[in-house]
Amino acid sequence: MTTQTLRAIGLMSGTSLDGVDVAYLETDGETISRFGASATLHYEDDFRADLRRLLDLAPSLAPDDPFLKSVEERITRDHAIAVGLIGRAADVVGFHGQTILHAPERHRSWQIGDAGLLAHICRFPVVHDFRGADIAAGGQGAPLAPLFHAAMAANLPKPLLVINIGGVANLTYLGPDGEILACDTGPGNGPIDDLTQKFFDTPYDKNGEIAANGQVDHARLKQLLAHPFFARPAPKSLDRLTFSGLIAQATENLAPQEAIATLTALAAAAIAQTRLPAPPLRVLVGGGGRKNATLMAKLAAAFPVPVEPVEAAGWDGDALEAQCFAFLAVRSLRGLPLSLPGTTGVPYPMPGGITAESNTNRPCR
Ligand SMILES: Nc1ncnc2c1ncn2[C@@H]1O[C@H](COP(=O)(O)OP(=O)(O)O)[C@@H](O)[C@H]1O
Ligand SMILES: [Mg+2]
Repeated sequence: MTTQTLRAIGLMSGTSLDGVDVAYLETDGETISRFGASATLHYEDDFRADLRRLLDLAPSLAPDDPFLKSVEERITRDHAIAVGLIGRAADVVGFHGQTILHAPERHRSWQIGDAGLLAHICRFPVVHDFRGADIAAGGQGAPLAPLFHAAMAANLPKPLLVINIGGVANLTYLGPDGEILACDTGPGNGPIDDLTQKFFDTPYDKNGEIAANGQVDHARLKQLLAHPFFARPAPKSLDRLTFSGLIAQATENLAPQEAIATLTALAAAAIAQTRLPAPPLRVLVGGGGRKNATLMAKLAAAFPVPVEPVEAAGWDGDALEAQCFAFLAVRSLRGLPLSLPGTTGVPYPMPGGITAESNTNRPCR
């Protein structure tokens, strides 16, 4: 059987709420035959603040809440603009949407975004709801990058550890015999961004400079690492706000740069202490967190092997998650699994995604 290579555009708006990443690739859902353009459309400050507010409100929001609906429409339109930035036609768009709540223990993971509207504007079929089937079957619904990481790393020496540091951090362990194990490791940039915004009126700790000027409070770090999440084996996943209360408590009365240094150490320690089947030969880091030099230095100190940005393997660390959802959209069309027992704890390899059709194939403008 020959499988068709499709032109796919992937979209990701992560828990950092910084913007939407978009990327083009060509794939049959198993191997990637070509990479294309990628871009990030940054959200405007007021919209990022609205999204942040929505995360706090999400647990008590009705599905037809007017604020929710207005944010959903705006985010969908921003995604349509992002698709337009690619400037070429596609057979499918993978639209992750914006997670505003993630509660796998309650069989709930809520991504906002109107796939029908996006398909209507772009005139391409849009695959969305990537996590629903996994969650419904009792899986974590996250992380979903592992099968893409495995395809990207097909020819790299194993064991290999791929880390993504977004608002939440997650890892993929790729074993020598094709084993794939994955989990969220803990908070990533999310709580650091919250504090830089609050104390320095800046959206993130550029290059980790604030953390570099602060002392880690080891007692508080220990208090944070005592949370039972960290002792649980993979697979496991997190809501962006799981640690909010604990972090607020643990950083109370700390000088802002001390608190930021401590949260940076927490992100690194949580990754480094995740139990793996075997020590990796190499650690590759993607996501915006790889640009935080203090975080990268802490990771490098925690692993006895090279810790490098994914660019060291020729990958694009800014586009990786968007490329992932282009890849998963094609897998969805083909009915291939998006997750495995080792990646989300789902009972068997799980296909997923729902396709919103468009009625013409006119490129988005
Ligand atoms: N130069 C930088 N220095 C430090 N942190 C950075 C830098 N650039 C981006 N980041 C961090 O990366 C985040 C965005 O990362 P991203 O991979 O898009 O995460 P997500 O998938 O959660 O949206 C920003 O919010 C910020 O915390
Ligand atoms: Mg982002």
